[in-house]
Amino acid sequence: MKKILISVMIFVLFSCGSELETVSAITSEEAPEFFKLADSSALVLVKTLGGRLTEIIQSDGVIKAIDVCKEEAYDITDDLENEIGENISIKRVSNKYRNPKNAPDKYEIEAIDWFNNKLSESNELPNNYGQKILRKNKKILRYYKPMIVQTKCLLCHGDDHTRLPDVSKRITKHYPNDLAKNYKDGDFRGLIRVEML
Ligand code: HEC
Repeated sequence: MKKILISVMIFVLFSCGSELETVSAITSEEAPEFFKLADSSALVLVKTLGGRLTEIIQSDGVIKAIDVCKEEAYDITDDLENEIGENISIKRVSNKYRNPKNAPDKYEIEAIDWFNNKLSESNELPNNYGQKILRKNKKILRYYKPMIVQTKCLLCHGDDHTRLPDVSKRITKHYPNDLAKNYKDGDFRGLIRVEML
């Protein structure tokens, strides 16, 4: 009897884990308000971060600008989240990440693969991708915007031809397992992910 009970409990545990979460792709037609909000938020993040990078590179140099990506990026993201609302979270994510904090989860991997497939099919990156995740009784919406490598990014994400030795040294010191290097101009760098709970 005890054995049967334990088996039943194990079965219930496993079925909870596997069946209570599903994911499906959604388009901007299916969630227009969310896509609009997410798209404008992602744009603000790209512009604010890009602007700060250019500003600090020009005024204080590349080494100082490392802190913009390392620290300010998170402050800018937090401010943006607070401005939009409590139920929104925004992050940068990449399969070739520098900070393990920005490593993709399984749905983000699916989104990165989706963009990579589109890129190899048509040589173009779509503007965005959406997912609807159903977790227990909760609906979670996700929006993804691709980021492209520009010339200025190569100062820190390029190879030995585009990165100064001091910059490479500083980055390797902070991120010994860095995957976010050897990029080329125009490469697909990663995604901005906006999630609404
Ligand atoms: C001054 C150096 C520097 C420049 C220039 C720079 N980055 Fe970064 N980038 C970093 C650092 C350092 C991190 C790690 C930040 C952290 O700890 O989260 C990072 C992280 C990122 C991440 C988060 C994912 C990851 O790898 O951890 C993305 C996406 C990214 N950079 C994209 C870009 C793009 C696109 C550009 C050009 C517009 C750019 N970066 C320019 C230094 C730089």
